[in-house]
Amino acid sequence: MLDLKDISITFNAHTVNERKALSHLNLHLDDGDFVTVIGSNGAGKSTLLNVIAGTYEPDEGSIFIDGQDMTFTKEHKRANVIGHLFQDPMKGTAPNMTIEENLGLAYCRASGHGPLSLGIRKKEREFFYETLKALNLGLEDRMKTEVGLLSGGQRQALTLLMATIVTPKLLLLDEHTAALDPKTSEKVMTITNDIIAEHHITTLMITHNISNALEYGNKTLVMNDGQIAFILEGEERKNMTVEKLISLYSSKTENEFSDRMILE
Ligand SMILES: Nc1ncnc2c1ncn2[C@@H]1O[C@H](COP(=O)(O)OP(=O)(O)OP(=O)(O)O)[C@@H](O)[C@H]1O
Ligand SMILES: [Mg+2]
Repeated sequence: MLDLKDISITFNAHTVNERKALSHLNLHLDDGDFVTVIGSNGAGKSTLLNVIAGTYEPDEGSIFIDGQDMTFTKEHKRANVIGHLFQDPMKGTAPNMTIEENLGLAYCRASGHGPLSLGIRKKEREFFYETLKALNLGLEDRMKTEVGLLSGGQRQALTLLMATIVTPKLLLLDEHTAALDPKTSEKVMTITNDIIAEHHITTLMITHNISNALEYGNKTLVMNDGQIAFILEGEERKNMTVEKLISLYSSKTENEFSDRMILE
């Protein structure tokens, strides 16, 4: 489904701030893989997702989605096959527009339907209503509410819905629950898991929560210093505990997870 071949990227090359963020990275994802991604600060996790999304072009290597070479496809052209969520709930929605307008925009963008200026049709409104209802947050009765008035968790759930309203080939989640309080974060995680399972969306999810990384998905990708240190799957992953993973990481990488990851 996704193939990364020998990807390297260096920021600020030939300056004192030169930083090799990804180094000869190879990765293959199967259709429907839900991969959690962990690693210390600066390991290259966000850069990996940004390169896949087309935010940055790699210096070397190629990116294939469903066998198609996307290496030089512009970010906005990848947006109809890739959903990308970030930590900040303020990103990804238009605050002065209503819930249904935001959904309408996302729907038009991803499906190539006519522009929103034609208005939201009855059929679409009903579809949005049902999709919102499935979130169980009561948002279906607030479709005319401006998104800026929603809580962070509600906004993140809506952003997720917008990213998946037309099923993307690939979903990229960059610590998308990290800015939420623990209870809301858990709720958004459950919604995330349900949406991914229902539509079998191939997903890469960065998290700093090690137990979430082991609980959700079918593989865990562990990054260090711009490379994949190791991947957990199958029996090894099933039997993995947070404690064992912390010590495995330091023994394999001579590096430590951040305090934030270990304390949570
Ligand atoms: N746009 C950029 N310009 C310059 N350097 C960058 C840029 N983006 C990332 N870097 C550098 O690349 C390295 C990898 O950063 P990245 O954000 O991918 O790490 P991360 O694993 O997501 O870390 P964190 O857990 O802190 O989010 C870091 O040294 C970072 O400073
Ligand atoms: Mg990051």
